[in-house]
Amino acid sequence: MSAQGGQPVLILKEGTERSTGRDARGNNIMAARIVSEAVKTSLGPKGMDKMLVDSFGDVTITNDGATMLKEMDVQHPAAKMMVEVSKTQDDEVGDGTTSVVIITGELLGKAAELMEKKVHPIVIIDGYKQAMDEALKMLDEIAEKVDPKDKKILKKVSKTTMASKLISGHSDHLSDVAVDAVLQIAEESNGGYKVDLDMIKVEKKPGASMTDTRLVNGLIIDKEVVHDGMPKMMKEARIGLLNAAMEIEKTEFDSKIAIETPDQMQAYLDQEEQMLRDMAKKVKEANINVLFCQKGIDDMVQHFLSREGILAARRLKKSDMEALAKATGAKVVNAVEQLSAEDAGYAALVEERKVSEDKMIFVEGCRNPKAVSILIRGGTERIVDEADRSLHDALCVVKDVVEKPMIVAGGGASEIEVARLLRDYAEKLVGRERLAVVAFADALEVIPITLAENSGMDPIDAISEMQSAHAKGNKWTGVNGIENKVDDMAKLNVYEPMVVKAQAIKSATEAATMLLKIDDMIAVSKMRAPAGPPGGMGGMPGGMPGGMPPMM
Ligand SMILES: Nc1ncnc2c1ncn2[C@@H]1O[C@H](COP(=O)(O)OP(=O)(O)OP(=O)(O)O)[C@@H](O)[C@H]1O
Ligand SMILES: [Mg+2]
Repeated sequence: MSAQGGQPVLILKEGTERSTGRDARGNNIMAARIVSEAVKTSLGPKGMDKMLVDSFGDVTITNDGATMLKEMDVQHPAAKMMVEVSKTQDDEVGDGTTSVVIITGELLGKAAELMEKKVHPIVIIDGYKQAMDEALKMLDEIAEKVDPKDKKILKKVSKTTMASKLISGHSDHLSDVAVDAVLQIAEESNGGYKVDLDMIKVEKKPGASMTDTRLVNGLIIDKEVVHDGMPKMMKEARIGLLNAAMEIEKTEFDSKIAIETPDQMQAYLDQEEQMLRDMAKKVKEANINVLFCQKGIDDMVQHFLSREGILAARRLKKSDMEALAKATGAKVVNAVEQLSAEDAGYAALVEERKVSEDKMIFVEGCRNPKAVSILIRGGTERIVDEADRSLHDALCVVKDVVEKPMIVAGGGASEIEVARLLRDYAEKLVGRERLAVVAFADALEVIPITLAENSGMDPIDAISEMQSAHAKGNKWTGVNGIENKVDDMAKLNVYEPMVVKAQAIKSATEAATMLLKIDDMIAVSKMRAPAGPPGGMGGMPGGMPGGMPPMM
């Protein structure tokens, strides 16, 4: 790769941007920290909410870290990584998506300070990884083991999660709903429990009050009974699921029918009517009294079905059809002729009910008792949407504890305790890695510090008060974010799943060390870039030597 005759060798495309070594690292750290600073103010019960406006002008008001970052649409690759970290946290445990971003930012900040003191990034990376392993063990040790079916404990955890949300005023009621829902679908496995949250169907309908949000033992379908003459309620429902139109299909090609006499016309119409009549008859013959159709149902067929006393709904979502199949034990068939008694499902009651201005169909007492739904109510659409996101977090943390029944106190208590233990551990280390382990401990304390800051307390006073309480053995002392003082969080019932904390430490360490390892950023110019991965890093090998000739 040497230049011949003083001519620079072209390696990268024209317009490619490249930064190396300290510059690359510095830029990445800066971008990641900007993202982290942006979400900091929204942490905890006194955290602020964000109003986000997307390119279509749609407004989202939220406090949820993962949602905020998703909507922010950041561009810098390192900033994008922060978005991914919070998404991983959301996928794995469902809560702590703001915390994980803040911790990542702080780990990078502390690393930058160490690098200023000429500690090599590799030493920092090794120290961080060692500290992470220890921190995870420590979390395991300080966590309290609980009974996974203890409703009181599960409710405490759910309420803590909702404390920091817009809808926190209703956390008591919503937590009851979340705990009941999760316990109902929890299945025993290998001496513990497994929870598949997909079994809980969440429907939302603005109107009424949030206290009207409730758990339904079955499914809610956001459709109406298709014909006025049909029954609006069916007990002992034998349910057919059809993925085909109950209409006369139009031919794909233009075709002509030559009709010469009025009799022929009548015969043609009669035949058409007979076909439609036969469709309704097929349903009746299959001994089905409730029909859910994924496609349309012709007016005439509706009329014949209603005459047979069959309750029907049309144009259901595919996901609703799948949920109905799972819940009622029915099989979705692809043609009217295939409807049969054997493939029909069962529910004790199918009923159309009025919910505010709309009508919805409730399918209750399903063959599978584990099918449950939550109907979220609330003043406006935005409130209902945020309630949905908060309920998602609540369902996730309850699931976390049911599956792994270990909890720690919130309000930053567990972070201070782990930081204290890590500093003790660092005492025994020699060399520069020790500095990295101490930096890691300091970084964890960003959570209590931020909580204190957000509730208007003096963070330095608060942290030293908490540290001294911990040194005296009060491991659950943290920030009482409601009354703005240092307090025993266990007494306040502020508990969180241990796995949320563990996952945050794991993901934050991974992301921070990954960013610290990058010493070369090559970004192909956006305009001229060939199709490559987003972020514009496509096509170039990673480890280019540092001293290349200038790019042209
Ligand atoms: N009453 C309380 N007093 C003090 N801190 C609290 C209280 N309730 C909850 N917290 C703390 O608030 C923090 C959680 O805040 P928040 O829910 O805003 O962020 P997150 O869980 O990291 O992210 P997200 O919920 O957006 O996924 C946790 O550290 C938790 O311990
Ligand atoms: Mg939270």
